[in-house]
Amino acid sequence: GAPVSVNLAAIPPGTMVTAEWQGKPVWVLHRTPEMIAGLEKMEKFLADPASDRPGFTPEFAKNSYRSRKEQWLVVVGICTHLGCSPSPRFALGGAEGMPADWEGGFLCPCHGSQFDLAGRVFKNQPAPDNLLVPPYYFVDDNTIMVG
Ligand code: FES
Repeated sequence: GAPVSVNLAAIPPGTMVTAEWQGKPVWVLHRTPEMIAGLEKMEKFLADPASDRPGFTPEFAKNSYRSRKEQWLVVVGICTHLGCSPSPRFALGGAEGMPADWEGGFLCPCHGSQFDLAGRVFKNQPAPDNLLVPPYYFVDDNTIMVG
């Protein structure tokens, strides 16, 4: 399929949009400084914090933010368990039934898998792997192309 352009200027900090690429939802989340700081705190709870497992993280995203720029998360919004679409849970600190030390992330409604704000899966979840980072690149500071 053709690459898909996403206008980053239309995404305020702390919010995300869903683009469509090859029939799949691609989330583009504008992380705030607080969201970025929370990533490090979550690492000890994650199954694959450095994204070492093959197939889900391109070389360019093998860093602690899983992205090209720390404020922008770009992932395919499909659970790596059985393909449901997780929902954002951006509130910090135990909102909506999440753990008290929750730093924000995503919750899969089907079997409860939890992911952090870099799409990294927590330990002992039904989902075996981190969310897929698709190929993408920056055209300029306010535009990415997915694909
Ligand atoms: Fe997401 Fe099963 S499909 S936890």
